[in-house]
Amino acid sequence: MERGSAPERSRLRRFSALQLLLCVESQTLTSVLAIVLAQHSFQDNASGMDYMEALSNFMNGASEAAVYERYAAASQAVESALCCPVEYAGDFLAAIPQEIIDKDYGCGDPTPYVRSGETVLDLGSGAGKLCYMLAQVVGQHGQVIGVDCNTEMLALARKHQSTVAERLGFSNVNFRYGLIQDLQLDLDLFGQQLKQQPIHSPGDWLASRSIVDRLRRQRPLVASDSVDCIVSNCVLNLVRLEDRRQLFGEMFRVLKRGGRAAISDIVSDESVPEHLQQDGRLWSGCLSGAFREDQFLEAFAEAGFHGMEIVKRQSEPWQTIEGIEFRSVTVVAFKGKQGPCLERNQALIYKGPFRKVEDDDGHTFPRGERMAVCDKTFNLLQQQPYRDSFEPVEPIEPISLDNAEQFDCKRSKQRDPRETKGQDYDVTIESQEACCGDDGSCC
Ligand SMILES: C[S@@+](CC[C@H](N)C(=O)[O-])C[C@H]1O[C@@H](n2cnc3c(N)ncnc32)[C@H](O)[C@@H]1O
Repeated sequence: MERGSAPERSRLRRFSALQLLLCVESQTLTSVLAIVLAQHSFQDNASGMDYMEALSNFMNGASEAAVYERYAAASQAVESALCCPVEYAGDFLAAIPQEIIDKDYGCGDPTPYVRSGETVLDLGSGAGKLCYMLAQVVGQHGQVIGVDCNTEMLALARKHQSTVAERLGFSNVNFRYGLIQDLQLDLDLFGQQLKQQPIHSPGDWLASRSIVDRLRRQRPLVASDSVDCIVSNCVLNLVRLEDRRQLFGEMFRVLKRGGRAAISDIVSDESVPEHLQQDGRLWSGCLSGAFREDQFLEAFAEAGFHGMEIVKRQSEPWQTIEGIEFRSVTVVAFKGKQGPCLERNQALIYKGPFRKVEDDDGHTFPRGERMAVCDKTFNLLQQQPYRDSFEPVEPIEPISLDNAEQFDCKRSKQRDPRETKGQDYDVTIESQEACCGDDGSCC
């Protein structure tokens, strides 16, 4: 691995135990205590690399420490091994300083899934290229938030903020220091608190947990239900396996109802064996932490997302290791299927071309059949990404929400046309206008 010049390396070694502690802070008391103990061994040995080794040992090689070190170095000198060729849509690069463009470590382009005026969150924003592109997509009435846990990367991204703002004529990007699996904890604020109450012992750390709880509650890094679209470019695969459920839970928490995630990441076609996962270089290189492609989609479903779709998948692998193919995909997923199921006599007809489809709530829609749905499903399946696949059937006599009863969403059943029209409906309407064209065609 290229690690930059000697002065850069010594600077990296000097990054404080506190930064590492912040980067690896975890929900579980035992793992954080172990990190604090590793920090003590670092202080005793007064050597950054000893601390790195202690931490790497503790985290069994495939560690956040390896990720931290590699991206701190990659913020200083371009690391070509981390670059996966991407063609970006639109002409958004002209306003972005070359230093940022050079330190692009993404593997896809989620910008086409973001709209003007939206609030967007970029997970693992790195040098900030995607954020600065999205600043132009959302425009001055939108907002872009980049989150990264690497202070060197954050410094690089923040360095060019005023230049980009001048070129665009507005400033709508904000880079925040945090872990993407813990979007509640603002690590800049936590760092300020720790200056006043430093951690020297496990007891100090235990005391600091109440500070952390208060910060999470009162001044969250990203508030719940506040984001229209989450994007990420080649980052989720770097998150520890044990933190991934929490990562998807956090993505779900911060999205508004009806919001979406558009995530570009590296996936594998087979399960990655443990000996590759243990390799810190392969892990930090966005390879051995890759989700297996089917499990990537399943992780969204488990967190409560719906409508997951692979909108882009590299046909050729980016890299192949021991026969396992690693390639970039972009997946879009939506939030908003939760809520009460109310009966308003509505129906949906699946238009085809498949014989039948099943939605993320387990409702089956055979092609061409008029299926009974609750009000929530009726509205949901008329939005993206389903809109073009269904024909809605409203009842002639609408049932108001106040009068609507519970709908049994557990089973799929047909809606008799008499339910939507009414039992006594016996109207006869003949066509009023001749609709035959000059060419003799009739409807
Ligand atoms: C492969 S780079 C991608 C950077 C950027 N998205 C791009 O397209 O150039 C991964 C970035 O994610 C950050 N990162 C990795 N794990 C993280 C975590 N758990 N929380 C926050 N940031 C993380 C790294 O510091 C690094 O900046």
